[in-house]
Amino acid sequence: MELQLTDQDFQKLSDFVYQKAGINLHDGKKDLLRARLAKYLRNTDFTSIKEFYQALLNDRTGEYTVPFLDCISTNLTYFFREPQHFDFLRETVIPTFLEKASTNNGARLEIWSAGCSSGEEPYSIAITLLQGISYHGRPPVHILATDISTRMLSHAARGIYPAEKLGAIPSDLKRRYFKRGKNKWEGFFKVKPVLQEVVTFKRFNLMEPFPSSFSFDVIFCRNVMIYFDKQVQEKIVNKFWRVIKSGGYLFIGHSESLTGIDHPFKYVKPSTYQKST
Ligand SMILES: C[S@@+](CC[C@H](N)C(=O)[O-])C[C@H]1O[C@@H](n2cnc3c(N)ncnc32)[C@H](O)[C@@H]1O
Repeated sequence: MELQLTDQDFQKLSDFVYQKAGINLHDGKKDLLRARLAKYLRNTDFTSIKEFYQALLNDRTGEYTVPFLDCISTNLTYFFREPQHFDFLRETVIPTFLEKASTNNGARLEIWSAGCSSGEEPYSIAITLLQGISYHGRPPVHILATDISTRMLSHAARGIYPAEKLGAIPSDLKRRYFKRGKNKWEGFFKVKPVLQEVVTFKRFNLMEPFPSSFSFDVIFCRNVMIYFDKQVQEKIVNKFWRVIKSGGYLFIGHSESLTGIDHPFKYVKPSTYQKST
């Protein structure tokens, strides 16, 4: 069916998205919303936007909300995107951790990839950490990788990528951390268990309260807040502050900025902030 999306429908749906996910769908996104919604609704029994909107309002289980938010999220990502953050992990975060670990045997480096999309970011973090920290038995690192999109998370957890997505990974690291696919998987690579074992994928909406168990040395929240307005960004950045350990870091995307929002982080360099000790 040709989907009729009136200005009023668009307004209601974008208000819903803003309330639930903090994402600002400005007018320029109307065609995108119409296209993605048409695709989603084709596989459902809904016969109109109004009927679907009513179901969203009554949705207590997330049955409609989760796939709806899935279809409006923008998921572009790639391995070792914005390499300065991986250099910073190698040159600053890992040495500080190793110094701490030398006096505290049980120390573990805890990193959160918030808005991890299809997994390239958390796997790039995992490679950097495993390359920089020598260990016996279990590696002393853990990466929590979360996203609002269940579709992206299942892709991420499967860890299978077409060869052209691995272009930024040097061939020795590719051999060490990826397995080449055979037969019907020719042209694809799968991440090896050593990487998968240090990453936990979980659906988490950044608009929700953060669990009290959250505590991280570093948070990557890159190219996510660009979809939020300043008010939502301010709330989330201040929530990050509460779950970063003293001396820990927040990385944001290079095209993002915390200018104009009230927060207690210390500016270290572009897109890098610290919770000072
Ligand atoms: C463009 S991707 C960024 C991926 C990766 N961080 C990077 O920089 O390459 C943005 C991701 O943020 C997620 N996202 C958007 N709103 C969110 C929210 N409220 N809670 C959690 N994730 C959200 C989207 O689903 C999407 O996968």
